[in-house]
Amino acid sequence: MLRVVVLVSGGGTNLQAIIDAVSAGRITNAELVGVISNNKTVKSLERARAAEIPAVSVSPKDYEDRDAFYRAFLEKVDGFRPDLIVLAGFLVAVPKQMVQKYEGRIINIHPSLIPSFCGVGYYGLKVHERVLERGVKVTGATVHFVTEGMDEGPILSQKAVYVEEGDTPEILQRRVMEQAEWILLPQAIDDIANGRVRLEGGRCVRTTQRD
Ligand code: GAR
Repeated sequence: MLRVVVLVSGGGTNLQAIIDAVSAGRITNAELVGVISNNKTVKSLERARAAEIPAVSVSPKDYEDRDAFYRAFLEKVDGFRPDLIVLAGFLVAVPKQMVQKYEGRIINIHPSLIPSFCGVGYYGLKVHERVLERGVKVTGATVHFVTEGMDEGPILSQKAVYVEEGDTPEILQRRVMEQAEWILLPQAIDDIANGRVRLEGGRCVRTTQRD
């Protein structure tokens, strides 16, 4: 069983999609062993606790500087002994020490088709605001492995979603979640847990197609 830890910052709808996929048997060979938030009051922690998954928060506000926060955060991550770390709406830059320690074992969901609309300053609703400003007709979501460069790691999967006339950032965000994120992220975890994808020479290679 792959030990999976999920890192969150907000509402946790992607976390919920993962929880539901495990319950429904759409993710196999994986166990959700912990949820960690950088924010004490988020709905994600409630969702985790309702599913009886150990959930903790480590807030930067409780530490004198970024380094102390990162040390405490990494300690919590290590405590769960994860095989895979999933960033599901985790809106904090991942500590470099964590990326190095868990190289090839951290994935992130990003709400656009990388390399468009990603990198510093592109997170959450802001991504969809920029998509609408630029007037692109197709957007989507991407699951990728996490490396030191923001949103630059090997891409595991992507799904396109149409932008529609009259979309607001909120409407588009919801469509991207429903049509792409909540499907892609559970599938990616299932693929890793069942050895269907692997990293090879800095690229993500699919060895077995999904059924
Ligand atoms: C999701 O749209 C996720 O893709 C995005 O934040 C949202 C969190 O929603 N992540 C990023 O922008 C990462 N750069 P959720 O808390 O309801 O899952």
